[in-house]
Amino acid sequence: MGGSGNPANPIDGWRAEHAWFSRLLELVRGQLDLVHAGERPDYELMLDVVAYLREYSDRFHHPREDVAFERLAERCPEMDLVLARLRQEHRVIAHAGETLREHLEAILAGAIVPRGEVEVAVAMYLVYYGNHIAKEEEDILPRAAQALTPQDWEAVGAGAPAAPAASELALAGRLEERCRALLGEAATGAGRGR
Ligand SMILES: [Fe+2]
Ligand SMILES: [Fe+2]
Repeated sequence: MGGSGNPANPIDGWRAEHAWFSRLLELVRGQLDLVHAGERPDYELMLDVVAYLREYSDRFHHPREDVAFERLAERCPEMDLVLARLRQEHRVIAHAGETLREHLEAILAGAIVPRGEVEVAVAMYLVYYGNHIAKEEEDILPRAAQALTPQDWEAVGAGAPAAPAASELALAGRLEERCRALLGEAATGAGRGR
């Protein structure tokens, strides 16, 4: 949202990022389902997704949202509490993501990590993140589309430095290849690395 190369309508760009994040979380969900089937999940893929969300979403998407939420709270004071909670959730997501990244890195490094603990951490991350995105999609984006001015959107775009292009973001490229292979579909390039 609001970065260079985004669609003219910032809401479209915002939704596209959510769709991309949701797809990545769904891939992790699929890996978690393998645990229930007694199979070993692809921890490397899970780490790629969590690392990407730490490096892109936590650094670019959420800081811009924080600005959007501040502006929206000014225009719609009755939304102040729900917006404050969403800003808090950004901090929780960043913290949970970092913990999860450490767990997954430890597993891949061969450390003995209780698998049950990791399973719980992953499952909670997925639910928390999924609910966060759903709340924004349902309650915030429609109001932002109505209430935010072009000046507000400019401030939102300046809320984080321009993200590197997908082609320059190694993680995004690796994820694209893996998603394509796992889902058997052609990657479109939508929603990544912005
Ligand atoms: Fe958010
Ligand atoms: Fe979001």
